[in-house]
Amino acid sequence: MERLVKIALEVNGAPRTVECSPWKRLLDVLREDLRLTGTKEGCGEGECGACTVMLDGEVVNSCLVAAGQCGGRVVTTVEGLARGDVLHAVQRALVACGGAQCGICTPGIAVCATHIVDRGLIANRDEASARATVRELLAGNICRCTGYQLIVDAVIAAAREVGASR
Ligand code: FES
Ligand code: FES
Repeated sequence: MERLVKIALEVNGAPRTVECSPWKRLLDVLREDLRLTGTKEGCGEGECGACTVMLDGEVVNSCLVAAGQCGGRVVTTVEGLARGDVLHAVQRALVACGGAQCGICTPGIAVCATHIVDRGLIANRDEASARATVRELLAGNICRCTGYQLIVDAVIAAAREVGASR
């Protein structure tokens, strides 16, 4: 019989404990054990970025992270980006710019773009450099619908908004 372990971690600002195989994918812990179904599965092998979350503030593919690696760590999913009813600037910009169509890639892109914006990774750059950097940093997030232009527009708009409010 498979050995189960208790794993305590922080998810979207709240302490959570799960009991599962240490080999269970973080993606499945989030979706099955914690019912956080915003995080999506695309390829299941680290290629598409649909399952992107932040682990201790860094962007990871949750399909490649084992639950046993997550004890004591901090996870942020797409459900953790908004503050109450107020969407993150990135989420609002994705809606306003039309950067989401079928939506399968959108949670992962929202998480990765929030990391870009909140870390100031395109702050103080000219337009061309900022756009090139966003494309580079989002290269692991595949979208088959938008052609990326509207997603990049959204990240640039969100970065401007967040930068202006700092
Ligand atoms: S489902 Fe994880 S990278 Fe595609
Ligand atoms: S909006 Fe459909 S895959 Fe990106």
